[in-house]
Amino acid sequence: MSSPEKNITSVLKETRVFPPSADFVAASLVDAKERDRLAEWAKRDPDAFWAEQAKSLHWTKPWTQVLDWSNAPHAKWFVGGQLNASENCLDRHLTGPRKNKAAIIFEGEPGDTRTLTYQQLHREVCKFANALKLLGVGKGDRVTIYMPMVPEAAIAMLACARIGAMHSVVFGGFSADAVADRNNDAKSKIIITADGGWRRGKVVPLKANVDAALEKSPTVEKCIVLNRCNTAVEMKHGRDLWWHDLMAAGSQHCPAEPLDSEHPLFILYTSGSTGKPKGVLHTTGGYLLGSSLTHKWVFDLKEDDVYWCTADVGWITGHSYIVYGPLCNGSTIVMYEGAPNQPKEDRFWEIIEKYQVSVFYTAPTAIRAFIKWGDHHPKGHDLSSLRLLGSVGEPINPEAWMWYHKLIGGERCPIVDTWWQTETGAIMIAPLPGAIPTKPGSATKPLPGIEAEVVDKSGNAVPANSGGFLVVKRPWPSMMRTIYGDDERYKTTYWSHYDGIYFTADGARIDDDGYIWVMGRVDDVLNVSGHRLSTMEVESALVNHPKVAEAAVVGKPDDLKGEGIVCFVTLKQGNEPTDALKAELKAHVVHNIGALARPDDIKFTETLPKTRSGKIMRRFLRDVAAGRQSTGDATTLEDYTVLAKLREDEE
Ligand code: WT7
Repeated sequence: MSSPEKNITSVLKETRVFPPSADFVAASLVDAKERDRLAEWAKRDPDAFWAEQAKSLHWTKPWTQVLDWSNAPHAKWFVGGQLNASENCLDRHLTGPRKNKAAIIFEGEPGDTRTLTYQQLHREVCKFANALKLLGVGKGDRVTIYMPMVPEAAIAMLACARIGAMHSVVFGGFSADAVADRNNDAKSKIIITADGGWRRGKVVPLKANVDAALEKSPTVEKCIVLNRCNTAVEMKHGRDLWWHDLMAAGSQHCPAEPLDSEHPLFILYTSGSTGKPKGVLHTTGGYLLGSSLTHKWVFDLKEDDVYWCTADVGWITGHSYIVYGPLCNGSTIVMYEGAPNQPKEDRFWEIIEKYQVSVFYTAPTAIRAFIKWGDHHPKGHDLSSLRLLGSVGEPINPEAWMWYHKLIGGERCPIVDTWWQTETGAIMIAPLPGAIPTKPGSATKPLPGIEAEVVDKSGNAVPANSGGFLVVKRPWPSMMRTIYGDDERYKTTYWSHYDGIYFTADGARIDDDGYIWVMGRVDDVLNVSGHRLSTMEVESALVNHPKVAEAAVVGKPDDLKGEGIVCFVTLKQGNEPTDALKAELKAHVVHNIGALARPDDIKFTETLPKTRSGKIMRRFLRDVAAGRQSTGDATTLEDYTVLAKLREDEE
């Protein structure tokens, strides 16, 4: 990771402002006045503020201290308190009208559907928790979950939480090697999988991958297999067990284990800038408070909302905003198994219309794909049930924001652009939609209780409109506690740049109105003639050209300027890659940003190398641009053939 040596020059100029409608404000949970009150209170007396918020959870034993930071950077929140995340997500909804409310509305890729009420979900979780206990899983044991996006993935997570076992969910798109690495790092005792899952009309062979992974995972004793796709799999005698056999035998009575507030809830592996993935550890009380409170606030949650987050449960977004946050709040969630273009590119819009989704949360990478596929797909559906839209995962280019606002939101839905990280556990910077006018491309302001700031290399706040490093100055409840098995790496990665301050590794700028504009990872900056430019801002300038669908910008060594600017560009359907268009795009960037950012080279390509969560892997593009072979970890790359294709184009 690069250390903060030089400030970043910010060149993105976006002046459009979109206040929420009067109707939205009138019905909103938090309006501007209330937001100011909360923010001021949190600043003045953070302990009292968080203590009050934590009353929204059900504690079986009250805490004695809100925050213990005496052993910084290791925080303890709600010290001495006891609770259970699964009980908070299920049992407490069973005593009132939510008992028969839909918890999960599931849509499989082939079109099969299933709805689980809170009562039904509770029963499934209890039975599965008993099955785990029978297999000898107990408090503190690690359980790997490698499943498709089906309700059983959430059931498995909540069953672990119920008995105090830690889950480690591994995204179903990862390879056998990645599963084995994570099994070994966590020393998992059990793995839960399925025969397969549906993706673009085909079955992803999850069980076959697990079989290969288990050749190299000596700690794993048992493998539980859900029959999702009815495909033939090998069941190893004595090791492999069918989910349905265990459930047929299990009792549905399983009281939730009271757990210490700091009891580990899960490990989630995330890629580091180099080498080995990091096992981010989250604990019970603080994480559950962070995910549920932000879910309620940022999505302005109403009892009758139909809420759909399109992430996979294998990412933190799925943990916090499909499972723990929404279920803790008793919401109805939509869960979809498959690809957005199966059978056609309008599948998401069809689902929204079918289930009358009111709150929709997705990622910029998906939005750019929708733009590329064409406006007729959303236009062919009635999306009037929507009232609020969300974005997460990377900076959203202003043009993608405008498309989302117009085509999906019908110019009536506020967009909450939510900045956070696997490490932060919950949303940190985002508009409270009834309280703050939005600006396309800005996540607006930190939530009450979150002291995020943009600082220079010495840790001083930067003046308005100059770039700097995004940091968080006070501990917050849902912060990660350590990197599992590597506390040194936790300390050096996040806490060694500034004393007692959390380093996010993102660059950002604050504008005259105090809005934060996140520019992406500090690693993703160009150094052109002494100016540190954010690659994302040059990309935004390209994407606002009408013919461009997506762009990735990297630097290549340049004797004169330090770095030259190389742009990889994907065109919208129906546009020809010509030299004239290259010249036009260069001029377009100069027009939007200035001569400083004139691209040295434009390369047209049909696809870009991305991680499985949709982030562009600029590290590989830098190698292509510089004519080098790529070294280093490629296991997080979604499609290996993309690199080979980019290289061929070079020759
Ligand atoms: C990194 C964290 C947050 C859950 C999904 C990704 C980038 C995320 C935004 C946003 C600008 C964003 C940052 C951050 N990022 N959301 N709204 N605006 N950048 O989690 O894989 O841990 O990645 O994603 O660079 O540090 P993650």
